[in-house]
Amino acid sequence: MGRRRSFGSRLLAGLALASMSICLVLLHQLSQDGKAAIGGATTNEAIERRQRHSHRYLLMAAAGSGSIPAAASGLESKQRQPIAAAVAKERARNQVENNNQSSMVDRRLPRLLIIGVRKGGTRALLEMLNLHRDIAMVPVEVHFFDKFDNYQRGLDWYRSQMPLSSDAQLTVEKSPSYYVTPEVPERVYAMNPHVQLVLIVRDPVTRLLSDFAQIEASRAAQNLPNRRFQDVALLPNGEVNTQNRALHVSLYAKFLSRWLHVFPRRQLHIVDGDRLIQDPWPELQKVERFLGLDHLIRRDQFYFNATKGFYCLTGTPADVSNGNDNLTLATAEEHHNHHYHHKCLAGSKGRRHPQVPDEVISVLRQFFAPHNRKFFAMVGQDFDWPEQ
Ligand code: A3P
Repeated sequence: MGRRRSFGSRLLAGLALASMSICLVLLHQLSQDGKAAIGGATTNEAIERRQRHSHRYLLMAAAGSGSIPAAASGLESKQRQPIAAAVAKERARNQVENNNQSSMVDRRLPRLLIIGVRKGGTRALLEMLNLHRDIAMVPVEVHFFDKFDNYQRGLDWYRSQMPLSSDAQLTVEKSPSYYVTPEVPERVYAMNPHVQLVLIVRDPVTRLLSDFAQIEASRAAQNLPNRRFQDVALLPNGEVNTQNRALHVSLYAKFLSRWLHVFPRRQLHIVDGDRLIQDPWPELQKVERFLGLDHLIRRDQFYFNATKGFYCLTGTPADVSNGNDNLTLATAEEHHNHHYHHKCLAGSKGRRHPQVPDEVISVLRQFFAPHNRKFFAMVGQDFDWPEQ
């Protein structure tokens, strides 16, 4: 009897001890929430942060959900099946959790377009902007507005090409040929007259050299003979070959007037592509300001990679892994910290430019000078490109 009583009281004491521990844990949790509030993070902000975090995860996972070509997602098909299921599950959970609040995960039409210019640094700009929590980038060039066959498929098709995003996020698509294709400004306006536009330009002669290097690389892939830059850019009499298509793309003012005919100047931001190469962060801060985004992209997310000769991205896997095969892992010895990933643009970005005599460069600079001045006057910004 005595033994039974002592067992019963031990049981009661145990239960009392367990409930005291639970109370202590709850009290601790409350005090942590209080600290968060004192630190400026209200409960709503904390929830929002958590939602954004899970949306970020979703965006990464969505790269394997089948909406984005497998080649671009960089995921094997075996991996895609469970991820698609995870996306669906997470999506349903978010919808319940958010209780029909505004941050539903969905595919949204772009609110920002990087419209060009070809070889201006469009890929680098897109990848760098994608470091921002509130940006959801389309990893491939969709060519919706410039290719008639795509445009005919309609906005629902275009939307289906978009990544999943929360409504706190801006979807960004880039197709550099938008800038030079005559029909595009009005088609874009018809989609959304308030869409924001970004154009990245660089010294038009450097851009032409870059374009030439790309064209020659694709000719080489087709076993076509190499050409000298000066034989393509100049006529036999030494004058500029104004029939050259690539040269026309460097006549920035010519295409800008079409855009400014349709959109107010305040909806267009111009990035200096030469500066983006030298020091990306300040240019990205300007884009954040233009878009009205919090300044979240950090200088320490870029590092100069001497092997590549360009800035590369560094950050957590969520920052830099976006299922894009235009990014390649930097060399193993650069993985100095296991928690961080390092990514550089693919080899097709940062090609060696042809060696060209100074006189050829000078002829081209003189040719572009009046066009450049017109462009500076139109945009109200002087890029200081050499004239001799
Ligand atoms: P080059 O290959 O001639 O050097 P786009 O993406 O519009 O095709 O532009 C390609 C250009 O982006 C490259 O031209 C390169 O100079 C420029 N660029 C800017 N920042 C870069 C970066 N961080 N890494 C690689 N290329 C970058």
